[in-house]
Amino acid sequence: MAHTKAPSAFKNPLIRWVDDRLPIFTMISKEYGVFPTPRNFNYLWNFGALALVMLVIMIITGVFLAMQYTPNADLAFDSVDRITRDVNGGWLLRTLHSNGSSMFFLVVYIHIFRGMYYGSYKRPRELLWLFGAVIYLLMMATAFLGYTLPWGQMSFWGATVITNFFTALPIVGKAITTWLWGGFAVANPTLNRFFALHYLLPFVIAAVVFLHVWALHVTGSNNPLGIEPKSDKDTLPFHPYYTMKDMFGVSVFLLIYAVIVFYVPDYLGDPDNYVKANPLVTPSSIEPEWYFLPFYAILRSVPNKLLGVILMFGAVVMIFLMPWLDTSKVRSAKFRPWYQWCFWFFVFDSLLLGLVGSQHPEGIWILLGRVGTLYYFGFFLVLLPFLGWFEKTLPLPASIAESVLGGGKLAGSTVAAKPMEKA
Ligand code: HEM
Repeated sequence: MAHTKAPSAFKNPLIRWVDDRLPIFTMISKEYGVFPTPRNFNYLWNFGALALVMLVIMIITGVFLAMQYTPNADLAFDSVDRITRDVNGGWLLRTLHSNGSSMFFLVVYIHIFRGMYYGSYKRPRELLWLFGAVIYLLMMATAFLGYTLPWGQMSFWGATVITNFFTALPIVGKAITTWLWGGFAVANPTLNRFFALHYLLPFVIAAVVFLHVWALHVTGSNNPLGIEPKSDKDTLPFHPYYTMKDMFGVSVFLLIYAVIVFYVPDYLGDPDNYVKANPLVTPSSIEPEWYFLPFYAILRSVPNKLLGVILMFGAVVMIFLMPWLDTSKVRSAKFRPWYQWCFWFFVFDSLLLGLVGSQHPEGIWILLGRVGTLYYFGFFLVLLPFLGWFEKTLPLPASIAESVLGGGKLAGSTVAAKPMEKA
């Protein structure tokens, strides 16, 4: 109860005043200052922080873009052109936002693959993983909605193709599609509602990220060895060790992002989207952004539309089910020789499906798409459950400290910073 609480120990009187009334600084210090964190993180553990940075950049640039954007089918294309040419700093906001979505997906894909490799989705972190999967789904929806906003050829035809998926559903398909469009074709009401939702969803993502990080702080982080910390020797306070490491990672990442924004801002875009939407002219090839290509390949790998749509959504459902499909008791792939092979082949398979998604569905690409789809589902539905039963795993180290400090001899010594370099 508030009146029995001891006064906080902060030196700054303003911070102390606030903290005595709302212990927000105590919470930050507990969760991000002294928070015990495994001492053996590698750089892949930077990617959660990077995703957070990207979310903030996307929300800030998006809010400012919205101040100059006009969500009307007759005016949207020109308003975006005006932002790029006439609004002060508009070109920068726009390139930061459009390339930002690619950088955000890149970061989140690495973040997901990291979790898959080190088994971070396993007990007790299933809910943390599920929140992550919800975030990923919301990100896909947000990116799709945002891509329609410039109302270029690819915006219009992309929206038409994707919303048409729903017509494949028996009985209710047509009604759902009309409801999504707000009419009988992709037109002004569609653009308007897509804009409203594109503005809303990032804040929903931010709320789910809050739950995601909350769940993380209940279980604590996994680590490259996949074994839980057993004593103080296995952990370090989050600050200054990981705040510094995260800041270094963020700096390197922002440099790469800046090179793209300033030197090749249009590299990832589709030239067709610099042409105003025309419902009477279909582009020669309709292709989503790179981060959707593997799913697009899965959709097109079966000749039946309904089955294609089911498989495409099923591919995302697999991610949700991972904690229950993997039966192995050992978390990290470091100690799972067979899983390691299957995992790296899965990474290769995802890239291959991405390539297939970018090609016309003809000749060898059809076969590759089918084989790729088969492995995608085989990985989740066959390999993950069966490997857990048959794989002979390697012996686990007794503790994190023993593994990274060479027998744990250094663990209690004063050279606490040294082992970080080994991580
Ligand atoms: C907006 C997107 C996301 C943000 C901002 C975010 C943020 C974070 C942060 C800050 C961490 C702690 C640092 C780290 O372990 O890297 C973390 C951990 C984690 N995230 Fe995410 N995340 C996002 C998306 C996802 C997605 C899509 C998944 C999986 C489907 C996921 C699964 C995980 C898991 C399993 C951990 C724990 C890792 C471990 O302890 O080894 N996250 N996330």
